[in-house]
Formats: sequence, C-alpha cells, structure tokens
Amino acid sequence: MAVELDGLRVAIYRQGDNLFALNGRCPHANGPMGLGWIEEGEAVCPLHRWRFKLTTGRCTTVRGESLHRFTCEVRDGEVWVAV
Ligand code: FES
Repeated sequence: MAVELDGLRVAIYRQGDNLFALNGRCPHANGPMGLGWIEEGEAVCPLHRWRFKLTTGRCTTVRGESLHRFTCEVRDGEVWVAV
C-alpha cells in the first residue's frame, strides 16, 4: 500500500500477521515502493526490481543502499506509522 504522510511517501507491507513500513521512494530512481510487491521477505521496487529486506530496509540488490524503516503497528484496527 502506498500512502503519503505530511508529504512523506511511505510504503506499507503486510506479510502474514506482520506489518512493515518503509520509505516509499526507491533510492535508485524514486520508484514507487508502495506499488511494488513482496518476494521472499523482501520488498521489490516495481520499476527496476531492486529488493529491500522488510525487516531492516537494507537493499539486497546494490550494496550500501537502503530504505528507512518506520515503526508501525495496528491500534484498534488502524495502522499507525511513527514518522
Ligand atoms: S527506481 Fe526502484 S529499482 Fe529503479
């Protein structure tokens, strides 16, 4: 899911019972991470398929690249993201 919070693009992913929130702009060419998908525990950018660990935001395609990971949780059925 792609959301914008105070002008900040955030990508929210659900894997099983776990939620993850990563920066929504891919560091490669600002691809929309929130329009991507999950493969093997990694968020995949829809533009050129760079991959990022959901648990850390670390890029597994290009060493040294990463996405900021935000703390998020469900409260009373709503997703809260600490930005
Ligand atoms: S913009 Fe994300 S991989 Fe190129």
